[in-house]
Amino acid sequence: MSVQRRLIIKGGRRIEGEIAVQGAKNSALPLLAAAVLCKGQTEFHNCPELSDCGAACRILSSLGCGCRREGKVVCINASTVSGSAISERLMREMRSSIIFMGALLGRTGQCRLSFPGGCEIGSRPIDFHLEAFRQMGAKIREEHGCIECSAAKLRGAKISFPIPSVGATENVMLAAVLAEGTTEIHNAAREPEICDLANYLTRCGAKIGGAGTGTITIEGVKELNGCSYTVMPDRIAAATYLCCGAITRGEILLTKADISSLGLIVPVLEQTGCSIYGFGGDSIYLNARKTLKAPQSIRTAPYPGFPTDAQPPLMALCATLPGTTIFVETIFENRYRHVSELTRLGAKINTEGRVAVVEGVNRLTGAELEACDLRGGAAMVTAALFAEGTTKIGKTCYIERGYEDIEGSLKSVGADIRTGN
Ligand code: UD1
Repeated sequence: MSVQRRLIIKGGRRIEGEIAVQGAKNSALPLLAAAVLCKGQTEFHNCPELSDCGAACRILSSLGCGCRREGKVVCINASTVSGSAISERLMREMRSSIIFMGALLGRTGQCRLSFPGGCEIGSRPIDFHLEAFRQMGAKIREEHGCIECSAAKLRGAKISFPIPSVGATENVMLAAVLAEGTTEIHNAAREPEICDLANYLTRCGAKIGGAGTGTITIEGVKELNGCSYTVMPDRIAAATYLCCGAITRGEILLTKADISSLGLIVPVLEQTGCSIYGFGGDSIYLNARKTLKAPQSIRTAPYPGFPTDAQPPLMALCATLPGTTIFVETIFENRYRHVSELTRLGAKINTEGRVAVVEGVNRLTGAELEACDLRGGAAMVTAALFAEGTTKIGKTCYIERGYEDIEGSLKSVGADIRTGN
């Protein structure tokens, strides 16, 4: 019988110190896919060492690209792209591999991959992606869970999304940069990761306007050339560590972090009574050594709204603050899976559909938990730092998909956390 590796956390220690925030997972994945579009070499710096990035690199190698990692630097040579099909095995490793679709269509005029399917937090359809590619002239065949896409020549189109989708916006950008003519994306996602992708592509020679606004315009160019680029800091990892600082009523300095990308996370933490400042352009300071109170309501929404990915760790914090917080989750239908686990620690949370009502308690006690998804797992770690006694969290592979070294990072600021079984 295999022994399960778990995170073992003894709660009640105040967090004090400095954490350097990793590069953004949600930026690195589309960036790695974007490198397929470029002739010559791309060098990504600050690329987080995560299992999903490893999976993206394996996809790049399977497509014939040179791809090698040295620490946080990933070098990709896409001059040698020889394939346009992604095996089902590689697709299964990472749901976001759908992002290779736009890049492959743009570079080779075709691609073949399997449907990514749903995941822990929701059904995650890809209809916006497929419809947009059709509008750009691609022929798409869906058969037995397999998608085949081809376009003799992709052409610019006017695309309007029913709701902003991060992945679909990125996929269309990737397909459009080498397409013939101009593409307009209306109701585009405005997340900072969209700007990061646009910045990289622009450095490679693409012509993109309006990234970060609801309308993005892309004028197709003949070719792109790789460059050296630094992945933006991970705003969700930053938000998670800020919640960890707050829940232990601690004091934390995040370096390599960008407060301007945190959006509504900052005012919400201020509402709880924390002091939070950005300085020097790349550091965030949080002081929670005071009496905190629950924020009244949190509604997740596309950027610049409150990010759905920060909802679980924030909920863990609110579960320990005097007062009641109402959460409304508007993005994914299955994003309260951490609630039952937080309840096992003594949290008082009731959910009905997309609403969760959190009544703060002043005491949580350790228990044996299982991570259910990436951010839900992060919420359990956050709550465990506050809980009296020992909490053991299983299925840490979910957490490792998005946090580079959560154990080492939290240990370095005084948490009692280790891996064991
Ligand atoms: C990205 C992030 C994820 C984050 C999410 C929302 C990456 C790798 N992942 O996921 O961490 O939680 O944004 O900020 O960047 N939708 C459709 N049809 C589509 C596409 C989306 O109905 O074709 C719906 C989704 O079900 C969801 C909403 O649109 O309700 C937004 O999803 P989307 O922004 O596309 O999320 P992802 O890009 O998958």
